[in-house]
Amino acid sequence: MPIRYSFSEIKKMTKGFRERLGEGGFGTIFKGTLRSGLQVAVKMLSQSKANGQDFINEVASIGRIHHVNIVQLIGFCVHGSKRALIYEFMPNGSLNKHIFSSEANILNYEKTYDIALGVARGIEYLHQGCDMQILHFDIKPHNILLDENLKPKVSDFGLAKLYPVEDSIVPLTCARGTFGYMAPEMLYKNIGGVSYKADVECC
Ligand SMILES: Nc1ncnc2c1ncn2[C@@H]1O[C@H](COP(=O)(O)OP(=O)(O)OP(=O)(O)O)[C@@H](O)[C@H]1O
Ligand SMILES: [Mg+2]
Repeated sequence: MPIRYSFSEIKKMTKGFRERLGEGGFGTIFKGTLRSGLQVAVKMLSQSKANGQDFINEVASIGRIHHVNIVQLIGFCVHGSKRALIYEFMPNGSLNKHIFSSEANILNYEKTYDIALGVARGIEYLHQGCDMQILHFDIKPHNILLDENLKPKVSDFGLAKLYPVEDSIVPLTCARGTFGYMAPEMLYKNIGGVSYKADVECC
């Protein structure tokens, strides 16, 4: 179960939100260090959910997921309308930096193959390895993070919704993603429902 941190602890671990790692559709990520010395990435969510208890319940389910190819959620914070998620820090950042940036050419064919395989294992675990089937809906290079050995980890369940495994088709109103990586059925509302196949399409 992820640890609950107070807002003042969040401020302390990020040294007053000093180092910004990036920004996404749901908030801003800051680098942090826990008292144990462990480096973390703190995601301050911009769109807070009205109900703190719903957020805590969701965090509890996500926090139970452990897999070598999934970014580990370490903690969270609920303070008034403020919400934060604390993840393990990934020193090599997100995959997009390595494939779209001209100076980054550390990925040879062998490494690229290992990354693709690792991502597939992470997604398969979300789809088939947990009590609840987890559909990510936003698989893209920005959400694949690389650790110190360039081992890939699927990140960001900000868009993920949890469904019982029997219920493999979900109503489209629940589904979202990033334009350019989305499966066609996510766009065309008349198709009806989307399934785990939408995550496979994103790859
Ligand atoms: N655990 C982490 N360790 C190191 N860097 C991270 C971590 N999580 C995120 N980042 C960095 O912060 C950036 C922004 O992440 P964020 O998840 O907020 O946005 P995104 O992935 O671009 O879009 P989305 O909101 O759709 O997930 C990432 O691209 C990555 O470089
Ligand atoms: Mg992300």
